[in-house]
Amino acid sequence: MENEFLGNKIFEVYSQTVSASCPSNIALIKYWGKYADQIPANPSISYTLNNCKTNTSIEFLAGEKFSVRTLLAGNEEPKFAEKIEKYFRNIEKYLPWILKGKYIIKTENTFPHSSGIASSASGFGAIAKCLMELDGYFSGKLADEIIIKKASFLARLGSGSACRSLYNGLVVWGKTAEVENSSDLFAVPYPDKEIHSAFKNFNDWVLLIHEGEKSVSSTVGHGLMKTNPYAERRFQEAHENFKILKEILRTGDLKNFIKLVEHEALTLHAMMMMSDPAFILMKSGTLEVINKIWEFRNTTGLPLFFTLDAGANVHLLFPGDKSEDKIKEFIIKELLQHTQNNGVVKDVMRF
Ligand code: DP6
Repeated sequence: MENEFLGNKIFEVYSQTVSASCPSNIALIKYWGKYADQIPANPSISYTLNNCKTNTSIEFLAGEKFSVRTLLAGNEEPKFAEKIEKYFRNIEKYLPWILKGKYIIKTENTFPHSSGIASSASGFGAIAKCLMELDGYFSGKLADEIIIKKASFLARLGSGSACRSLYNGLVVWGKTAEVENSSDLFAVPYPDKEIHSAFKNFNDWVLLIHEGEKSVSSTVGHGLMKTNPYAERRFQEAHENFKILKEILRTGDLKNFIKLVEHEALTLHAMMMMSDPAFILMKSGTLEVINKIWEFRNTTGLPLFFTLDAGANVHLLFPGDKSEDKIKEFIIKELLQHTQNNGVVKDVMRF
């Protein structure tokens, strides 16, 4: 299967500058745990965000000794350059021209750094798109559909969740019986005709509860699943949740959508608490916000709910419908006070 992504013959390499933009995504069924070569331990599904993006340009200087320079919002980032250098060496089989020159990579995010919005997802998504454009010049252009599929495949090798950012809307990564053509090697869009209109217009407001460095990197977090005694049950549950979610998405069952999405977020955090060493990724503000959301939902019946990534910040999810004004008012009045600096990133998922 991986053979379909092997590189074509190189025609010629020459200096070239390309650029691309790629959004981040937020998972509903979480990817947490992986095997060698970035194979996920369970299938995941995410919404691609509309506004939080990484914009990247790559200047390729053909014929120079292979090296990578990276500038993040204009600042030299040697650590990131090292990571990209390693990544490029790793994907040479799929892009045989990749080590034949020097790179200057300029990248900037439209959202704040350390906001808990996955910049590795949008970052590797944007790099993979740039690489496929260069590949078109040096090895011949492929059909558009194959370009995105290979970009998703390459993005996965940079950061697992990045492969889902190559498509809009709801996107699946990881083999599941519930989604035709799903794969562990790349992401596929969730079939549009199987999504009820209730799920095609959502808000994601990210409350910045804690803006510092994450206490555990996702690489370390995934690794901890190897010795977690509950891991196998968790992987199995992710498969079961896909089956449940499929029915929810078809019927527009918002109540059970909320239940499943919050359960997934809490399971991710529970897994970290049960790891050895253990990690508690929530801060007190995270808990206060969750309790207030539950109370608000109980008293008003309005569909405000949350998801979490591997950190303390809270993604507030709510439909873009007649209930949204009341929900926004509540967030500003009651939840914003739990952030560090009134920090909130407002995005939408509309498709
Ligand atoms: C909690 O994709 O950042 O956001 O493959 O090691 O780069 P690597 O991990 P990464 O993990 C993301 C985990 C998550 C859940 C998700 O996005 O599915």
